[in-house]
Order: sequence, then structure tokens, then C-alpha cells
Amino acid sequence: MTAPPDIEAGPPPGHRAIRSYTLRAGRITVAQRRALQELWPRYGLEFAPRPLEPRQVFGREAPLVMEIGFGDGELLAAMAAAEPERDFLGVEVHEPGIGHALLLAERLGLRNLRFIRHDAVEVLAQQLADASLARLQLFFPDPWPKKRHHKRRLVQPAFVGLVARRLAPGGIFHVATDWAPYAEHIEAVVAGEPAFAQPPLPAASRPRTRFERRGERLGHEVWERAWQRSTRPAG
Ligand SMILES: C[S@@+](CC[C@H](N)C(=O)[O-])C[C@H]1O[C@@H](n2cnc3c(N)ncnc32)[C@H](O)[C@@H]1O
Repeated sequence: MTAPPDIEAGPPPGHRAIRSYTLRAGRITVAQRRALQELWPRYGLEFAPRPLEPRQVFGREAPLVMEIGFGDGELLAAMAAAEPERDFLGVEVHEPGIGHALLLAERLGLRNLRFIRHDAVEVLAQQLADASLARLQLFFPDPWPKKRHHKRRLVQPAFVGLVARRLAPGGIFHVATDWAPYAEHIEAVVAGEPAFAQPPLPAASRPRTRFERRGERLGHEVWERAWQRSTRPAG
């Protein structure tokens, strides 16, 4: 039997990590480019392979919510504005999206939102401490529909195990997709993680995302779950 990949150590020397994204060039507006230059110092955090200290970053002790792949950041900014008692950390690699989100953070005057521009798997594995998250949200992750690309899907057993360890006991793993075969895959993978053994909770209502609206126009149905991490220590 081959050992499962050690997601925290990263790929062995000489091997490249399998990424869950491709860096799309995408059109970037003048305002987004300006935001990346001028607003990044206020809202951006650099990736570093050591656990960040949320208290230092946000200047207070508050439950921390992380969103992976926030796209244009409309949902993330709206949630940060609606939940000022929590701190939010958005991780994304798509430049125009990050620029858009920075502009929103400035327009809404948000003090409880920061961004990291890096592979979220590495951020989760190397930049967050165990039990540091109150909620991890993953909305409409790239479905990688072709079989030969399934290995690029973000939700894999090692990833879900890592999410369980980074969530505080009672923390929430909130996931949505409009791709039915990916929903089935996620359901099966999470069922294999003992920390998420309880039936999912009703998912809290949230604003719709850009990809979600696009899927709705195509007639896709949205599948959504909110699993709660057990209060026993994650393995
Ligand atoms: C299909 S889009 C969905 C965007 C947004 N959540 C929405 O619903 O509109 C998936 C997003 O996840 C980002 N992404 C995928 N893998 C990522 C990773 N490992 N780290 C950070 N971002 C990632 C992509 O750049 C892309 O913007």
C-alpha cells in the first residue's frame, strides 16, 4: 500500500505539486491594477511557511473565517461587512479577482478582512496553526470534470484531513458546488474523515457568488453542506 501524500510537508524533492488551478491571464482593469499596488500594503499578507498570528494581523482576538478561491470577492466582502465580530482571510491566485476584492474592502471600509495571494493548500498547510479556524468556506471550487484531471480537484482525503486539523473543535467546513459529480465526490471524501462524522448542519444563508449565478443561468442546481468538526481532537 502506498502512503498517503504528506500534504503538510509538500511534494518530495524533485516532484511538482499538483495545483488545483491554472493561472488565467484574465483582463485586469486600471482600477484593479491600482488596487493591487496601493491597497495591497493595507489588506495583503505575504505567504510565509510559518503560522501567522491572527491577533497580530487583526489587532484583536476574534473567530477567524478563511475562504479558499474567493473569485471576485463579492461574497467574502459582503460577509465580512455583515459579520464585524469575526475576522476574514481570503486566499486566491487570480489577480483581477484580488484587485476587485481589494477595491471592495476599501469601499466598505473593512478592518476585519485580509488577503493572501498564494496556493490555498500551502497556506492551509504551512501558514495556519491547528484549531485556528472557526470556519473554512469553499464555494464553487473548480470542478475539473475530465477524469484525467480529477487529481487536480481541491477536495481530496489529505485536504479534508488538513481542514479538520485547522478547524477549531465545533468549527464549520462550508462547501457548495453546482457540479453534481463533484458533489458526490466531496460527500464520499468527507464521509471518510472521522472528524466530520456528524450529519451536516443546515447551511447558513449567504450571498450568491458570481460562479453560482452563472451556473444558475445554465440550469445547474446548487448542492451545499456545512459539516461541523467534532469536539474530539482531530487525528
Ligand atoms: C470556479 S472559481 C469560483 C470563484 C468563486 N468562489 C465564485 O463562486 O464565484 C474557483 C476559484 O478558485 C481559485 N482557486 C482554485 N484553486 C486554488 C488554490 N489552490 N488556491 C487559491 N485559489 C484557488 C481559482 O483561481 C478561482 O478563482
